[in-house]
Amino acid sequence: MSVPPHASPPLGGGRCPAATALYGPVLDGDAMPALYEELRRTHGPVAPVTIAPGVGAWLVIGHRELLRLTREEQDFSHDPRRWTLLREGRVPANAPIMPIIGWRPALLFADGQQHRRMRTAVSDALAGIDGHELRRSVRAAAERLIASFADRREADLVPHYARKLPLQVITGLLGLDGPTGQRLGQAIAGMVAANADSVNAAERIDSILYELIREKRLRPSDDITSALLSHEARLTDEEVLHNLVVMFVAGHQTTLNWIATTLRVLLCDPAFRSSIAVGHLSVDDALDLVLWRHPPTQNFPARYATRDLEFGGRHIRAGDMLLLGLAGANQDPEVLPADGAPVIGNRSHLAFGAGPHSCPAQDPARLITRTAVDTIRHRLPDLELAVPESELSWVKSPWSKGLAALPVRFTEPQLPRTTDTTDRPHR
Ligand code: HEM
Repeated sequence: MSVPPHASPPLGGGRCPAATALYGPVLDGDAMPALYEELRRTHGPVAPVTIAPGVGAWLVIGHRELLRLTREEQDFSHDPRRWTLLREGRVPANAPIMPIIGWRPALLFADGQQHRRMRTAVSDALAGIDGHELRRSVRAAAERLIASFADRREADLVPHYARKLPLQVITGLLGLDGPTGQRLGQAIAGMVAANADSVNAAERIDSILYELIREKRLRPSDDITSALLSHEARLTDEEVLHNLVVMFVAGHQTTLNWIATTLRVLLCDPAFRSSIAVGHLSVDDALDLVLWRHPPTQNFPARYATRDLEFGGRHIRAGDMLLLGLAGANQDPEVLPADGAPVIGNRSHLAFGAGPHSCPAQDPARLITRTAVDTIRHRLPDLELAVPESELSWVKSPWSKGLAALPVRFTEPQLPRTTDTTDRPHR
């Protein structure tokens, strides 16, 4: 246990609160809900945590406080260059967190007018996606993946389905062909891993995306890259590149997690297993349940206080880091029914964030996830878990909430006679 930098005594006096480590052995996915409750009991809606030894931050787990954090940009900036620990050199430039939070000329790290300019371009590019075409291409990609393992009558749906499908779909939407999309996925995974190869990985990303941008400037087509390049916001090539990286990073792991966890709910939760067949609950209800209970991003970094202020009973200093405790805020007793019962039909969860930076891809992300889930249920109708549910575990991460594996078996795949071989999903 250590004390976060700049933690002032709680308002009204008292001792400086001890910070809870949000890394290491504490990261057992099943135990995280209890950890958030313990933090709420001990510290209230804004809890002191450390995200690495000696690196303190505030985890915002009150629903109301999280809405304020995401909506009041003048107090809570997106620009990591305001972070005191970084400015003072107390977090090295090669720290594992830096590939996720390090500044780039992209919407995720911009405030005010600069953010609005890039956000309009990204939102317009996403709004141009044709829903019918997206559903068709996701279904086709899903059927090809299912066909690749159908003969074995068993699969681990995390690596063989939930990871591959959004990779193919999102890189296709960006305008990349299959093999190049795969190379981009590997390079971005290498960058996020923050290991010795990260510098090379960043160079590979630049080279793939600058080549894509050059090609789309010469021959625009119906994809997100071309839409960004021709947008009236007049993004530079560098801005287009970094916004493409943000879209991939923000969209891939999250959609992977959403698909896999929803399949787990449908396979294991007795309420869903019995109710879907008779129409009491729908797949959309399962998707929403996951957004409430296991949001694909459980904690999102970050905002930085622009001034000293009082917030959630804490004195926050200018330059402090605040984390969006999305999972913790979703289970705030102020928004959950007293018995913690399922939240069917209620979409006031914070899985997509809120305010001006809330996820701009909620509709396509739902369409991709829903189609992925529907297609596998349709093509593998007797799908069942191949291990007891108690053997399933979550990836250990303070940020992402995703299954480590989802082993399944099935007997009679119902595959179409011909699979759509269109190489890449497009808009
Ligand atoms: C096709 C898939 C997706 C794409 C392309 C995408 C893209 C983005 C982008 C570009 C941002 C930054 C917005 C801004 O700063 O203005 C963002 C933010 C975010 N996205 Fe998504 N996203 C996708 C799927 C998802 C999914 C499935 C989830 C979780 C259910 C999710 C959760 C979030 C959250 C929590 C934020 C941050 C909100 C905030 O800072 O207030 N995204 N997304």
